[in-house]
Order: sequence, then structure tokens, then C-alpha cells
Amino acid sequence: MNRRTLLAYILLPTVSAVGLALIGFKPEDRRISKPMGRVVLPPPRTDSEVSVEYALRVRRSIRDYEDKPLTLQQVSQLVWAAQGITDKRYGFRTAPSAGATYPLEVYVVVKKGGVIDLEEGIYHYLYKEHVLELLKSGDYSRELMEACLDQEWVGDASINIVITAIYERTTWRYGERGRIRYVHMEVGHVGQNIYLQCVSLGLGCVVIGAFYDDSVKKILGVDEEPLYVIPVGVKKGGWL
Ligand SMILES: Cc1cc2nc3c(=O)[nH]c(=O)nc-3n(C[C@H](O)[C@H](O)[C@H](O)COP(=O)(O)O)c2cc1C
Repeated sequence: MNRRTLLAYILLPTVSAVGLALIGFKPEDRRISKPMGRVVLPPPRTDSEVSVEYALRVRRSIRDYEDKPLTLQQVSQLVWAAQGITDKRYGFRTAPSAGATYPLEVYVVVKKGGVIDLEEGIYHYLYKEHVLELLKSGDYSRELMEACLDQEWVGDASINIVITAIYERTTWRYGERGRIRYVHMEVGHVGQNIYLQCVSLGLGCVVIGAFYDDSVKKILGVDEEPLYVIPVGVKKGGWL
């Protein structure tokens, strides 16, 4: 990469923030629910015994889970795989983003007893601090299942990860191309990261695109566009 290109990439996150400020847009404007508390996640692992080739070879959409809870370490690993920071200096993340505009947000809907030592509720992932922020307490898994056209695996899963988009973060730079292409390409990257991370953790997941947008928004309490609901549970029989 030549120096000019490198400089452009380095400046992009700052330029994005300034651009959004100029159009009077604040990401937190989109949140309807007020944060009720914070859960500091254990640091994610950045290495494992499971190769990426193996994960690619065996990955499948899994809709049938053990009735077992996840650990906080597994939740930490999953949200990191989705949008964790891997370059603190420039804020780059595990998934690529057009012009480093990062339009996606990550929510975790935790079922009652779904995660050891974590209260049931709806959490927002704060990627900078690697923290979960509790937005709503209570078990919303059934409501979410209904919003997903009664797909049972949503109700059965220990957690559901919901990926939403704030299109303006990308469209102010790239216009309509950001809306119809880039943001949707990005959620695909995030989905695949979660699939591969699940294999490495002995978990199973499936990406869900069939849901009532307004119902999912209402459950989360955000005015952002939900793009994927991803139920995750312990995979029956494991992967290895
Ligand atoms: C954009 C998209 C939307 C999807 N929506 C759903 C869905 O609503 N429900 C579901 O059970 N699976 C859904 N899937 C998963 C596909 O059914 C699955 O990927 C496909 O059957 C291939 O199986 P595999 O993932 O195991 O290779 C979706 C996949 C994609 C990429």
C-alpha cells in the first residue's frame, strides 16, 4: 500500500465522525431504551486449536441446540468475532467495512438461563470497551421468535445476536451505493465470522433474514434497521 492510500485509511474513521457531526447525526439518537447497567466481558481469545480451514469445511446452519447455557467467555468471543476491535490505533475491527464507516451495531438477546451468570435481557455490544450494556431486562426470546415468523430455533437458542444497521454512517460518504450494496455486504461478513467462531466454540447458529422489521426494532427498542437475527446454542454432538 502506498503512503497516500495508507493515510486515507488512517484518517477515515476521524473523517467519518466529523462528517456525521456536520450533518447533525449522533448514533446514540437512535436508541430508545436507556442503558441499565454494564457487564464487562472477559477478553477474547485470539488463537485456538481449530483451523480456519476446518471451520470452513464443517460449517453448517444449525437449528437444533442442546438445552445448555453458554458461558460469558463464549458470548465475549462471539461479539468480538462480530465487531471486535483488532487494531486499537485506528479502530479497525474483525470484519471489513467500506471506508471504515462501520454502520453495524450488535445486540444480544439473552434467554432466561441462556448464559451462566448473565441476567436475561437485551444487551448492546460496546466494541470499544468490550462491554455489554443492558438495555432491557427480561426474557424476550419468545417475542423475538414470533417476530421471526415463529421460527422455533429463535426461541430455543440460548442467545440471539441481532445485527442492525445505521445506514447514514455509510451513505453520507457513498450515497445510495452504501445503502443498496456496502452495508448489506458488511452484514454478510459479520454473519460468516459468527458462523466460523461458532465452530471453534462447539456452538451452532443460523443467520435469519425472515422477520418483521418493525417488530424486531420494537423488541430491541432501537430505531435502527435489523438485518440479521442469529440464534446461537450449544451444538448437539459438537463439531469435532
Ligand atoms: C440472507 C440469508 C437469509 C437467511 N434466512 C434464513 C431464515 O430466515 N431462516 C433459516 O432457518 N435460515 C435462513 N438462512 C440460512 C439458509 O437457509 C442456509 O444458509 C442454507 O440453507 C444453506 O445451508 P448452510 O448454511 O448449512 O450451508 C438464511 C441465509 C441467508 C444467507
